[in-house]
Amino acid sequence: MTTNTTEMVFTNARIVLPDEVVEGSLLVRGGRIADISASKASGGIDCEGDHIVPGLVELHTDHIEGHFVPRPKVRWNRHAALQAHDAQIASSGITTVFDALRVGIDEDAALGSADMTAMGEAIASATSEGRLRAEHFIHLRCEVSAADVMESFEALVENPRVRLASLMDHAPGQRQFVDLAVYRTYYQGKTGMSDEVFDAFCARRVRESEDYAPGHRLAIAKACRERGVTLASHDDATPEHVAEGLELGVAIAEFPTTIEAARLAGEAGLSVLMGAPNVVRGGSHSGNVSAADLIDIEALDILSSDYVPFSLIQAVFLLAPKIGLPRALRLVTLAPARAADLSDRGAILPGLRADLVRVRAGQADEVPPVVRGVWREGERVA
Ligand SMILES: [Fe+2]
Repeated sequence: MTTNTTEMVFTNARIVLPDEVVEGSLLVRGGRIADISASKASGGIDCEGDHIVPGLVELHTDHIEGHFVPRPKVRWNRHAALQAHDAQIASSGITTVFDALRVGIDEDAALGSADMTAMGEAIASATSEGRLRAEHFIHLRCEVSAADVMESFEALVENPRVRLASLMDHAPGQRQFVDLAVYRTYYQGKTGMSDEVFDAFCARRVRESEDYAPGHRLAIAKACRERGVTLASHDDATPEHVAEGLELGVAIAEFPTTIEAARLAGEAGLSVLMGAPNVVRGGSHSGNVSAADLIDIEALDILSSDYVPFSLIQAVFLLAPKIGLPRALRLVTLAPARAADLSDRGAILPGLRADLVRVRAGQADEVPPVVRGVWREGERVA
């Protein structure tokens, strides 16, 4: 057996540790962090005063879909689509990513169950063949109100990259869209449905939710617990939603829609996740509680890039003046790593993986930070 002892030094860097920033140098040996020192090293990579931060950990991105369907009805080669997605992920400073694949399809979706299974297979084969820059896992986004959710779930859950699943119910009138008037504006605006068609659509979706959601939610949660797949609740709005999640064994509350639900979830030991685009844009598209509100009351643990990979690092530098860079970074590194049971990464500490990002801060709100280099287990990937 050979031991990898290759050494690499980053110097003249602002190294962001979990609770402080150290100006100095960082030693990497054999793909792991070996030492942090507050002095300048001779030789190595001169970071010119840039920050060195842990590789970001992203738990919920559906960004892959746009590469697979770049135009309506156009299916791109799935392996090439994955590589294009992966390149953007890595160059945004993300070294661990959970690609969200939809399970249980809503009718306006461009992609079906077979597409999702094919994307999942592409992720698994590219990973085992070492073709990807970031480390990819799969997050199954399970729409429990859909008639076909169990069939799609069973087709995907055996994929070895699946490590996380969320339980969603997007039927109108509850959770994400408690206010039907807001839902009407959003959905009719998106689809161009007439009032009559919209009303019939809502009635059908509510009926489906009543018929299918309770049984599917239980069955999927049970299957995930048995396989050690981490569970997340989605769009919790009420104390009942939080209690239900706890009973099912969820570890993460994704996108709670009210302060009450977020606070209760946090108090019960769940990790509360919100979208980084919400921080960057300064609000939510459906008028629900914002990430910034939750940060103010210390009820937010994790940010996810959702639909814009670069929003993660951008949000960190927008939040840093207010809450400090170490805390802002924990939202996108240590907290998501711990929530997903990845104990070997998420911080710059001796012994952890050398997943590292060299980043130069932006200027005020207008000019975003620049990712200048990304290393995964000590190997440069972007
Ligand atoms: Fe949602």
